[in-house]
Amino acid sequence: MVKAKPRRLREHWGSRFGFILAATGSAIGLGNIWKFPYITGEHGGAAFVVVYLICIIIIGLPVMMAELAVGRTAQRNPVGAYKVIRPGTGWFLVGGLGVLAGFVILSYYSVVAGWVMAYVFKAITGAVTRFTADAGGAAAAKGHFESFAARPGLSVLWHFVFMAICTFIIFRGVRSGIEAASKILMPVLIAILLVLVVWSLALPGSAAGVRFYLVPKITTVDVGPLSIPFFQGLTWSAVLIALGHAFFSLSLGMGAMLTYGSYLERNADLSFSTATIAVADTVIALLAGLALLPAVFAMGLAPDGGPGLLFHTLPAVFASMPGGFVFAILFFVLVALAAITSGISVLEVVTAFTIGEMGWRRRVAAPVIGAIIFVIGIPSALSFGAMDKFRLFGLNFFDVMDYLSANFFLPLGGLLIALFVGWGWGPKAIKAAAEGSYHGFPTGRIWLWMCRTITPLAVAAIIVAKVAGVG
Ligand code: PFF
Repeated sequence: MVKAKPRRLREHWGSRFGFILAATGSAIGLGNIWKFPYITGEHGGAAFVVVYLICIIIIGLPVMMAELAVGRTAQRNPVGAYKVIRPGTGWFLVGGLGVLAGFVILSYYSVVAGWVMAYVFKAITGAVTRFTADAGGAAAAKGHFESFAARPGLSVLWHFVFMAICTFIIFRGVRSGIEAASKILMPVLIAILLVLVVWSLALPGSAAGVRFYLVPKITTVDVGPLSIPFFQGLTWSAVLIALGHAFFSLSLGMGAMLTYGSYLERNADLSFSTATIAVADTVIALLAGLALLPAVFAMGLAPDGGPGLLFHTLPAVFASMPGGFVFAILFFVLVALAAITSGISVLEVVTAFTIGEMGWRRRVAAPVIGAIIFVIGIPSALSFGAMDKFRLFGLNFFDVMDYLSANFFLPLGGLLIALFVGWGWGPKAIKAAAEGSYHGFPTGRIWLWMCRTITPLAVAAIIVAKVAGVG
């Protein structure tokens, strides 16, 4: 028999709107602004965008609903939640996988967030807007970024600063700060992105980038006697990366949405929240791509510039803009804040687990876990300098962490959550998810059907195709 632990009163969101903001804050982060444009650039542009959007709809939406419903119903951390809903089964291991993924993801996410914070200071000192066309433009900005990322002291220091900030917020608890701050930050971020989009589109030479980003190239593939139109150059690797990114961007597959859902009152609506979070996240990613990729072409850079793309291109864009100095500062501040609202949601998963399952106090859990993740992240912080010779499957340590977590841990976690709802929980899941909905949950049966079939099958097929080395 498991001994019942004394239950402290569970903290809840201040308001429904506060929850949506916090969950949107978790979803919108470096994934949208830093990662989406560069992986789209690396994997062929428009076709990748189309696959990504399909993944959001057939996989992201059902899994998000699943996580929120499990969390809200159980009112527990990702491991405890499965124990409450299906006691005595092995489903809780799905939550365990998520907690592990949390360590890995935050360890390298924090490194990129550290670069962004460093760029806030570079923007203030004018270092970001120095790269005018006469001063070498984007190529010079690229050189500057690479020598900065290679300096071990700086990368580790900024990684530390980011982890310290996230730790402090999580130490203080669920409600204070996050909700209030997000209300102002998100609208300002959208406004700045829109200005950047307009400016990028107006740059001479940007049209090639728009075509690359938004117009898929179609070719025909012969299957027996049939010629089927298909995206030119689209590989299984790209499909897996689009899938992994759908999970990453929506904060799915590791229990972050589950954990945030567990701080909801039982009568909070879920379908509206799911749709709002997914739409907001996708709009921001698409805007970031539209701000960046046309500019990449206009600046004469290659779209496959990798993780540094944001830091190569934007300084040159800001340098060419009237008021670029102010925009650069605002932009990097907002991206840093977006990274914080995401980083804390990852840290909260692990913290909630140690509080709920191991009986730790929040004030102990947050700093201990923050410190552990900082240490695990050091090799990632050194991956572009002192440790760049370390390679696994041709990738450096940072890329290995990113690849493994986004493309295997999260999809696998999402697959298992869908299976849990579809088969482990079954029709009761609809009833649980419908609770509190304004108009019932009319799409409940479609949702359950998707969790049973198409969502897990699609994820499994993509993972298997990739592992089997098809294309
Ligand atoms: N969704 C965040 C982003 O796009 O930056 C990253 C993230 C947060 C991933 C929380 C996973 C997670 F659980």
